[in-house]
Amino acid sequence: VPASSKVVRDERFATLDDQDIKHFSGIVGSKGLVVDKDELEVANTDWMRKFKGSAQLLLRPQSSNQVAEILKYSSSRRIAVVPQGGNTGLVGGSVPVFDEVIVNLGAMNSIISFDEVSGILICEAGCILETLDKFLADKGFMFPLDLGAKGSCQIGGNVSTNAGGLRLIRYGSLHGNILGLEVVLSDGTILDMLSSLRKDNTGYDLKQLFIGAEGTLGVVTKVAVLTPQKLPSVNVGFLACTDYTSCQKMLLEARKHLGEVLSAFEFIDSFALDMVLKHSGHRHPLPDAKEKFYLLIETTGSNQSHDKEKLDNFVETVLTQGLVVDGTIAQDNTQISNFWHIREAWFLQLPPLGKAGAVYKYDLSIPIKDLYNLVEILRERLGGLATVVAYGHLGDGNLHLNISAPDYDEKASFFFQIEPFVYEWTAAHKGSVSAEHGLGFMKAHAIHYSRSPETVELMRKMKAMLDPNGILNPYKVIA
Ligand code: FAD
Ligand code: MLT
Ligand code: ZN
Repeated sequence: VPASSKVVRDERFATLDDQDIKHFSGIVGSKGLVVDKDELEVANTDWMRKFKGSAQLLLRPQSSNQVAEILKYSSSRRIAVVPQGGNTGLVGGSVPVFDEVIVNLGAMNSIISFDEVSGILICEAGCILETLDKFLADKGFMFPLDLGAKGSCQIGGNVSTNAGGLRLIRYGSLHGNILGLEVVLSDGTILDMLSSLRKDNTGYDLKQLFIGAEGTLGVVTKVAVLTPQKLPSVNVGFLACTDYTSCQKMLLEARKHLGEVLSAFEFIDSFALDMVLKHSGHRHPLPDAKEKFYLLIETTGSNQSHDKEKLDNFVETVLTQGLVVDGTIAQDNTQISNFWHIREAWFLQLPPLGKAGAVYKYDLSIPIKDLYNLVEILRERLGGLATVVAYGHLGDGNLHLNISAPDYDEKASFFFQIEPFVYEWTAAHKGSVSAEHGLGFMKAHAIHYSRSPETVELMRKMKAMLDPNGILNPYKVIA
């Protein structure tokens, strides 16, 4: 879908000319300036292949000073810019809508320092998440964020989307783990907020503004993050529940019995699991189970025999209580990674990257008691027109509602059964229309379902103050 079919280009933005290209070339040099059509095609297209821009220029700055020079010049000429990390975002925020210049941080990928006593890592924004995690693992630490896109996404992108991921239930959100940032503002000011202190109550905590700002307020260039110890004992159970009430009770029981070691509580319904197994070739972890809900529960601790015994006892208890009707605990690391591969395949194997057409994705926070009602209601509304599958971070109240259809067609009758209903229902139940993926381009129009007019107005004022020419990621978030 060309994203531009929904909005009109803001004609106040300049169109690039030869002088501009020459100027940018003077800042980033020939290795940082990309005009090659194939490379531009990739950078213009989002990970879902659903949104596509038409940037004629991609810049790869190698330092914060270069980012500052790029933005200063862009502001002066009113050239619109899209900050880009690994381009794995799921809401069309990381690609241009029209001809905005793409500024990709990938060449700024140095690890600046790591302090083993405090566990504080400082690095440039273009570091790939998995690279950071491997670096930390060698030192006995781990990154407090993990997600399926870890091999491609950059820490600057994670910060800018305030990514949640698979272990938020244990390690909390980036708002807590990020201790400091360096950010370049649209006029080229380099804002040094790179504190590496756990406690720092000197005035407003401005870095928080940029965590989750999706590149609309500044470009994140450096990050300081608090990392936990990597604990040696990991255990994973895959359990089947007949109904959603049991899933909720399972969360309560898991908190009660596994509290201090619980590190993931994920769910998938049978519709999603069937689809994943069909397209991925993975074997069902519980071949005889025919239940409607499955839970992946992970514990992480420091004592293998103690932690394993805890999970075994827990599973026995919930089986006896009838909350779970079938279950298995991974016996070795291979099985653990198999279970997690199935979890990550929940998404990777779904269309359009898989084989079943197009997928309409909704990433919602909903009070846990109501969360699955929406799935059932939508299934009924859509009848056989499209397949509704659900999974998500149940421990965090985060539903990933996916509707698989033959094509992307926002004029098709089934689409009108989905939107705006999904957003209205979520708002009516005091949920959020974006739990962890952000608003980007896809949901910029939907912000008012989750934020009051006064709040959105304040956001607009803040945007106008920090980016008076509106050059940073236009048409996104509060477009
Ligand atoms: P991009 O996609 O390049 O950019 C995302 C947004 O941030 C854009 O608006 C962009 O303009 C902005 N941005 C990027 N870098 C910067 C910067 N340095 N400064 C300012 N703005 C910047 N998300 C979750 O929360 N939880 C998950 O479990 C999860 N799993 C995923 C699994 C898969 C397979 C995929 C493809 C995505 C998943 N996501 C998940 C989506 C998630 O938002 C991204 O994977 C990740 O956080 C984005 O990082 P990125 O470097 O790819 O950023
Ligand atoms: C996940 O939890 O797998 C990601 O957020 C991606 C998705 O929504 O499918
Ligand atoms: Zn997710």
